[in-house]
Amino acid sequence: MDTNIRPETMERITTPELAAAFIDEQIKMIREQVGNKKVLLALSGGVDSSVVAALLIKAIGKQLVCVHVNHGLMRKGESEQVIEVFKNGLDANLIYIDATDRFLDKLAGVDAPETKRKIIGGEFVRVFEEEARKLDGISFLAQGTIYPDILESDGVKAHHNVGGLPDDIHFEGLVEPVKLLYKDEVRVVGKALGLPANMVDRQPFPGPGLGVRCLGAITRDRLHALREADAILREEFDICGLAGKVWQYFIAVPDMKSVGVKDGKRYEGWPAIIRAVNTTDAMTATIEEIPYAVLHKITDRITHEVDGINRVLLDLTPKPIGTIEWE
Ligand code: XMP
Repeated sequence: MDTNIRPETMERITTPELAAAFIDEQIKMIREQVGNKKVLLALSGGVDSSVVAALLIKAIGKQLVCVHVNHGLMRKGESEQVIEVFKNGLDANLIYIDATDRFLDKLAGVDAPETKRKIIGGEFVRVFEEEARKLDGISFLAQGTIYPDILESDGVKAHHNVGGLPDDIHFEGLVEPVKLLYKDEVRVVGKALGLPANMVDRQPFPGPGLGVRCLGAITRDRLHALREADAILREEFDICGLAGKVWQYFIAVPDMKSVGVKDGKRYEGWPAIIRAVNTTDAMTATIEEIPYAVLHKITDRITHEVDGINRVLLDLTPKPIGTIEWE
């Protein structure tokens, strides 16, 4: 039996009761798989890895070592929040690694989306392996792979957590307890595990982070502009109440400039592209309507507050035909 295929008989997890049953079953399976050995978890702070962390803490407690790698492609304030929630809040065994320079140096000049993804995924695994070697006796690598990752690694995009693993991986095995679940099910499980609602309902964030939104070859200045513009979008969505309604919303910044004018002078800048979509399982997506007043305010703030951005555009493309991310 291929353990990467969801059995047709598997019930959709929609209630706390179904989630509780899933959790009990997974706890047993995790304990059986890892015994008294240690597990290393790539804790990005997104919904999937956070739920896996909570599940593993419940199953094996201090045998779990969480590693949060800041690849320099996190959203504004995100790494700080991971430390706050997991280290201070949940008392997790958490190691923080700032690998920004390492990732950005490797990515310099690389513009092909799949190559960028593979570099980020490969580098991630190497960082974890290095960490595993430093730590005594880590045997397993846990990952927040979910079912759409598995389905879509087959042809559309090489999602880093299934497509980009190098062959020289040194772990005894992988622990992927939510790999047969869709996103909405992962959230139900997260709530049943007692994670705070604002963490469980947080919009998904791809493993390669802002790396697939800083389109083409990543530069530090454009990445910085993207991060600042994205923070403004998130702030304004919080203020107007769209944050709780829209599944995923973010800014992408392409590697192209247009002519603008600022303080009476020619001002060339990048456009910030707003993408705001709704979906239940990320396989298809529809466009969320954003009131014009909100769009005006976001445009005004981004063009005035973010260095290097001189236009704001709105992406109205559903999936299909556009994927949610631009790369
Ligand atoms: P796409 O762009 O394929 O995205 O329509 C579907 C969902 O998956 C997220 N995504 C990723 N998640 N690693 C991840 O863990 C990745 O490489 C990756 N690429 C896309 C995307 O943000 C959306 O929620």
